[in-house]
Amino acid sequence: MRIFVIVGTRPEAIKMLPLVRELRKHKELQTKICFTRQHSRMAEEVFDEFGIPYDFSFSEMKKGRNLSEMTLYLLKNFDMLFEKEKPDLVLVHGDTTSAFCGALAAFYRGILVAHIEAGLRSFNNLLPYPEEFNRVSIDALSSLHFAPTIIAANNLKKEGKTSVFTVGNTVIDAIRYSLEEKDDISLFDGLGDKKLLLITAHRRENLGDKMRSSMQGISDILRVRNDLFAILPLHPNPAVREIALESFKNIKNIKICDPLPMRLFHSFLSASFAVFTDSGGIQEEAAYLGIPLFLLRENTERPECLELGNTLIVGSDREKIKKEFFAFLNDEKLQKKMRKRSFAFGDGHASEKIVRELLNCIAKLK
Ligand code: UD1
Ligand code: UDP
Repeated sequence: MRIFVIVGTRPEAIKMLPLVRELRKHKELQTKICFTRQHSRMAEEVFDEFGIPYDFSFSEMKKGRNLSEMTLYLLKNFDMLFEKEKPDLVLVHGDTTSAFCGALAAFYRGILVAHIEAGLRSFNNLLPYPEEFNRVSIDALSSLHFAPTIIAANNLKKEGKTSVFTVGNTVIDAIRYSLEEKDDISLFDGLGDKKLLLITAHRRENLGDKMRSSMQGISDILRVRNDLFAILPLHPNPAVREIALESFKNIKNIKICDPLPMRLFHSFLSASFAVFTDSGGIQEEAAYLGIPLFLLRENTERPECLELGNTLIVGSDREKIKKEFFAFLNDEKLQKKMRKRSFAFGDGHASEKIVRELLNCIAKLK
């Protein structure tokens, strides 16, 4: 059985490499990784941190590509690769354009597709964009669905999908591996004994006024609270960089830096007083670590975080962000509630469960 694992972006590498490690314990499965380089350096670093090299890769995509250009490029490359290498099963993760194109190209060639992190739904095709469309479409053409939570599995069952397995999220496997050896953050310039805020932003639908407004809200907070120190690892998208540099122009208690290597990022996250983010994966990681999270989005396809209480949706309104965060600073009871750890996304053994189910399915195919 030839299994191809598709990785395009940093979070796909973080969430797929623990699974590859597990798959490779089974020699009867020939597991190969195809890296599309949708994210180049950011994802390469993750391969290095796991010590797992990829087997096939596409050449680097041109900068500033739009979704159609990316889709055309990826589909063509996947089709050529699948024609030559003839995998029996393709594993894709989540909701990126790499995952969508990998799944579509496999489907068109009659190759079985399995979707990891299946069943997440915001029920709004534009939020997040284009991810909601991608994940619904991947689920539509997949034969096997590995749902991270009961809520995700129920979404799939309501749509009539039958091969649904609830296995947890491999991001917990990754963070446990990563934090086995924490990086020392004590020497980070400027932090001292201040409370750490971690900030990330990259969502396509927020680029422009929404992102500017949310960053200005955080900037207002930092300006009047010298007991806080923020770290903002910038996504390489130039549109994000421009807004961040402008919004935090005269703020002293912030460090804006390049994307952090996974292990260092997880070390900062686990030491954070709070996180501001529009990320998907960081919601799961913060819930597992018990870190209060202010979500810079209008909704989430991970409602588990809201039910458990570590996440507050604040959107992008500058005044609302300030109001909610100052209320949090003044309310110890709320802080305690938002620091509660949750295991809704699994216990760190999702990869093992996925491989077990895959082996069962493969045995039935024979
Ligand atoms: C992508 C995924 C998103 C995922 C995110 C994880 C799509 C459409 N988006 O978003 O689902 O949440 O990754 O981080 O699949 N760029 C670079 N270098 C890079 C990466 C991006 O220069 O390493 C620039 C490119 O010029 C590109 C822009 O950033 O035009 C956006 O990159 P893209 O991969 O399209 O989307 P992300 O925002 O990274
Ligand atoms: N991450 C990282 N370095 C950083 C920022 C994020 O390693 O500087 C990791 C983070 O721990 C998480 C993943 O990248 O696992 C989230 O990526 P992102 O927010 O870009 O994508 P999303 O999860 O929204 O698809």
